[in-house]
Amino acid sequence: MAGDARLRITFNPPDCRRAMELDPWASDRIKDYARLRDQFGLGTLTPDAGGLPEGALFRRSIVFAHRGWDLFGRALADGKPTALMTGLMPSGKMHLGHKMLLDQVIAYQRLGTDVFIAVADLEAAATRNLPLDECRDFAVTEYLRHYVALGLEPCQFYFQSERVQVLRLAHQLSHRVNWSKLEALYGFSGSTSLAHANAPLVQAGDILHPQLAEFGGPRPTLVPVGVDQDPHLRLTRDLVAAVRKVRCRQAKDGRIGAFATGNDGIAKLLKDAGKLCAKMGFKKQELNVDYGALYLDDAKAEDVEHIDAALAYVDASHGGFGFMAPSSSYHRLMLGLTGGKMSSSEPDSAIFLADSPSDAQRKVKRAQTTGGATVEEHRKTGGRPLECPVFELYAYHLMDDDTKLKEIHDGCADGSWFCGECKALAGDLLGGFLEGHQSRLVKADTKAFAV
Ligand code: TRP
Repeated sequence: MAGDARLRITFNPPDCRRAMELDPWASDRIKDYARLRDQFGLGTLTPDAGGLPEGALFRRSIVFAHRGWDLFGRALADGKPTALMTGLMPSGKMHLGHKMLLDQVIAYQRLGTDVFIAVADLEAAATRNLPLDECRDFAVTEYLRHYVALGLEPCQFYFQSERVQVLRLAHQLSHRVNWSKLEALYGFSGSTSLAHANAPLVQAGDILHPQLAEFGGPRPTLVPVGVDQDPHLRLTRDLVAAVRKVRCRQAKDGRIGAFATGNDGIAKLLKDAGKLCAKMGFKKQELNVDYGALYLDDAKAEDVEHIDAALAYVDASHGGFGFMAPSSSYHRLMLGLTGGKMSSSEPDSAIFLADSPSDAQRKVKRAQTTGGATVEEHRKTGGRPLECPVFELYAYHLMDDDTKLKEIHDGCADGSWFCGECKALAGDLLGGFLEGHQSRLVKADTKAFAV
């Protein structure tokens, strides 16, 4: 990782605990990422985490949290097979908030990860009332073309409504979910339609299907998403645990072990698990078939996710799905230029990738920033760059140079640099980016994606 860490701007939030909720379909501007991360038990993703690609989004902790990173990161760093799975709701024009996700996908693809991208047409139909055929055209002409122009190479780009393996899986997994769980996770109520209620199950199907034999088999799978999507990952991880015939966990009494469920063949299952664990170096084993347990007394808490992942192969060889729990990473949601979050439904809040440079510059000029109201006031108090949508444009997209970014940050904070100048420079850089992007867009060829 290049650069002097002292010059690096970091969005890494400090520790904190207070209660809040996350709604994947109605998340607003998130004011307190630390609270959110700590309350939901997300891990902090630091720039030095093993396996993380290069790039400003990672270096600056804009991708700031994770679940189960270590499993994916280690496999990627060791050159073992990995998959990446993410999705999009084709409900509005593509903007810079969406680009953040693609920048990550492309970075991982360049490191050799198998990429799967779901067009969430069923979810969009269920939650936004969009007809499937419109979603289809829009996803290809709008999103996929931009993805190619940004540098995405051929990968599995598919539609939820057309991939029978995903739908079958959603149905199979739905046996393990009851209404109380959906109520608790999503606040669903008696008036929620079944189509909407099914959306999280289809998403679980999306997330796990790359691990089916025909799509490459069990392997660590990263799901990079905006942090509002975390409830879906909690659900999917619980489902993996529920469908496993054998898995590794720490029991209530603190003992770590492989635990099997079901009646038939448990002894053989645990025996195979024991062999594999011994190969991994966990030799202090105690078998208790009546408890369905193989205790691993030399395993430590940090070994659990790795043992559990390895047991996926034993699970598969005994007729289970053989899923490893997905790893996930979470990025901050971009601030809108008009105050709230960046959203396609509010055109002035967002910079669209198809905006003309002059339109984009106009939006930046009008952006709500944090500087003082008058020259004197600004000199005295300065601005709050980490809360400013224009500073985010630099940090997330326009300014890769850490030293220059730090100058912008410090100039804003100490009141020596004014919003007008700052917006003018951001507008220029943005105009340059959009021109380059749009000239690549004209040539973008989506044929290799087989859609
Ligand atoms: N629900 C996601 C969104 O609203 C889209 C999505 C569908 C997705 N399937 C997925 C994201 C699988 C990650 C993984 O944008």
